[in-house]
Amino acid sequence: MKLLKNTLALLFALFATLAAHAGEPIKIGLVLPMSGPFASYGKQIEHGVKLYLSTHGDSVAGRKIQLIIKDDSPGTAGDVSKRMATELVVNDQVDILAGFGFTPAALAAASVATASKKPMVVMNAATSSVTSQSNYIVRTSFTLPQVTAPIAAWAAKNKIKKVFTLVADYGPGHDAEAQFKKTFTAAGGEVVGQVRVPLKNPEFAPYLQKIKDTQPDAVFLFVPSGEMGVAFIKGYQERGLAQAGIKLIATGDLTDEDVIDAIGDSGVGIGIISAYHYAESHKSAENKAYTAAYAKAYPKDRPNAMSVAGYDGMQLIAEVLKKNNGNADADKFIEAAKGMKWMSPRGPVSIDPTTRDVVQTVYIRKLERMGNKLQNIEFDQVAEQKDPGKP
Ligand code: PHB
Repeated sequence: MKLLKNTLALLFALFATLAAHAGEPIKIGLVLPMSGPFASYGKQIEHGVKLYLSTHGDSVAGRKIQLIIKDDSPGTAGDVSKRMATELVVNDQVDILAGFGFTPAALAAASVATASKKPMVVMNAATSSVTSQSNYIVRTSFTLPQVTAPIAAWAAKNKIKKVFTLVADYGPGHDAEAQFKKTFTAAGGEVVGQVRVPLKNPEFAPYLQKIKDTQPDAVFLFVPSGEMGVAFIKGYQERGLAQAGIKLIATGDLTDEDVIDAIGDSGVGIGIISAYHYAESHKSAENKAYTAAYAKAYPKDRPNAMSVAGYDGMQLIAEVLKKNNGNADADKFIEAAKGMKWMSPRGPVSIDPTTRDVVQTVYIRKLERMGNKLQNIEFDQVAEQKDPGKP
């Protein structure tokens, strides 16, 4: 009798939840730079999210997924992103916040997620501390310490003894600089110089001269994916750093597939080695299917890590909603997301239940020409790399 009563109560609760939401769309508000200098971030993440929906169906637990995109261009100004997130919650009444290209955008929007009790799925912003800013944040991209530790360890193992670090002067750059020093010195290496360059229009020439004069074995670089990296490589060549025997090692943001063609064959000549969680050339059945679907849907573009973070972010949202019968309540959402595991086009991934950050394989790659394209070719890897930047 008691069992019957309990079962009935459970069924009733289930129907009540279903009835409250059945038929209503699930609204996902994406905050992304869709115009301006970083429009490619928004484009790639949007491509990934839409590709997941077009290949897996755009309804979950009987509810249609509706995307609402707000342009927070340039993407680096937190107040603009916060305003967009607020408008999505207040005016559009979204169930879930997602996107966020840059760290300042994610940091500023975190308080909106907390105050409005909305889950917030971060699809790029990669400073370690982002997920600590709200208990409702879960991240499907990466963190800078996560990709920096493996390249620092690789350098120390490969006869690189003295390194000069150059990073963009904001959250992810500071994270990369600190992690590089920590891992590299622990492995016996020496950091012989460190510079931080402004995010806006940096003039690389004086830094490159300083690096050349210091004569390190390598320069380690983090700048956000895009024009900055292309400009750095150009300067590195013009000033003859490669000829001076100074190697270039970096996080994979430098050789992102969205800008790789702009780097050109000279980048191959330099022999750039980078560490990252995704390459278009990654060999797996899942990535073969992903890159083929991407090429069909977006023949003018090349899939990059941001597109995969968007795809996996949408995948996480869909799986969580399935588990929760279409209920998007933030506490239930985060509970269901913790510990979730799946096979991504990048390889196996899971959500760390403690930090809500993604645990994944980080690959060491070399920039090479394959056929008529430049590609990051993976030749070494660290499996199940967590974010080492958290206390
Ligand atoms: C960030 O702002 O967190 C960020 C932006 C671009 C990247 C990496 C990190 O390529």
